[in-house]
Amino acid sequence: MSDKSQQPHQSQQPYPEPRSSGGQSPVLQLQELTRVHGSGATEVHALRGINLSLFPGELVAVMGPSGSGKSTLLTIAGGLDTPTSGRVIVENTDITSATPKQLAAMRRRSIGYVFQDYNLIPALTAAENIALPRELDGTSARKARVEALAALTEMGLEALADRFPDEMSGGQQQRVAICRALVGDRRLVLADEPTGALDSETGESVLALLRSRCDAGAAGILVTHEPRFAAWADRVVFLRDGAVVDQTLRSDAESLLSGQAAEL
Ligand SMILES: Nc1ncnc2c1ncn2[C@@H]1O[C@H](COP(=O)(O)OP(=O)(O)OP(=O)(O)O)[C@@H](O)[C@H]1O
Ligand SMILES: [Mg+2]
Repeated sequence: MSDKSQQPHQSQQPYPEPRSSGGQSPVLQLQELTRVHGSGATEVHALRGINLSLFPGELVAVMGPSGSGKSTLLTIAGGLDTPTSGRVIVENTDITSATPKQLAAMRRRSIGYVFQDYNLIPALTAAENIALPRELDGTSARKARVEALAALTEMGLEALADRFPDEMSGGQQQRVAICRALVGDRRLVLADEPTGALDSETGESVLALLRSRCDAGAAGILVTHEPRFAAWADRVVFLRDGAVVDQTLRSDAESLLSGQAAEL
């Protein structure tokens, strides 16, 4: 458990504002976001007017029943899908009005995405996997490797640098995937059930890593079904039918989670 968990927030507001930003601008702003899949009789309103801001240092857990829109929210926040209406602002840039080229650059530079099944490239070592997005972004191979090794060292994973994915455990692969998502200047990390394929102890170590990166200034969204993983977050946002139905600070989360967890 992180140090912060011993210092719970005291606010009792049911719909709290994000924690003090210290005058910093949000890393991510979702404004009146909607997403409709299909049309006519098969129309699905996956998101219905989502508003959410994340400031540097914040980790927000998103919970909700299957089909409530969690993955849709994350893919749109990461620029992997486009909203039907609304805006997505990442570090003061509206990615919904960016050109495909600008968007690709934003994804390489500002946004890190962690998938449930790690998605490391099997033919590349841990260091090469982490270096790849930087090289694609024009960083020299040599500098990208130095950055990758620094990211691994920062996470205490330097011994894995030259291992291929099939030579690592699931938890090690997922931690390497988090390094890849955060290398360079990317300060927004979006993780869709990153612990889904892991046992609970390994899941905790992945969450500890995500938490430490947020404590160091990144902002993160964690989609999870597990209340014990959501407990690492500063806020928990509950989605139902594409809308935010409840939002709580961690100090209030326990009672809310015990009420909602049974339905998730
Ligand atoms: N490409 C698509 N085409 C049509 N409908 C879709 C598409 N993607 C998602 N949906 C629908 O949008 C809604 C939200 O889906 P989403 O994947 O965001 O849910 P989720 O909360 O991530 O669920 P889970 O917990 O099962 O991963 C669901 O009703 C789903 O069927
Ligand atoms: Mg999902």
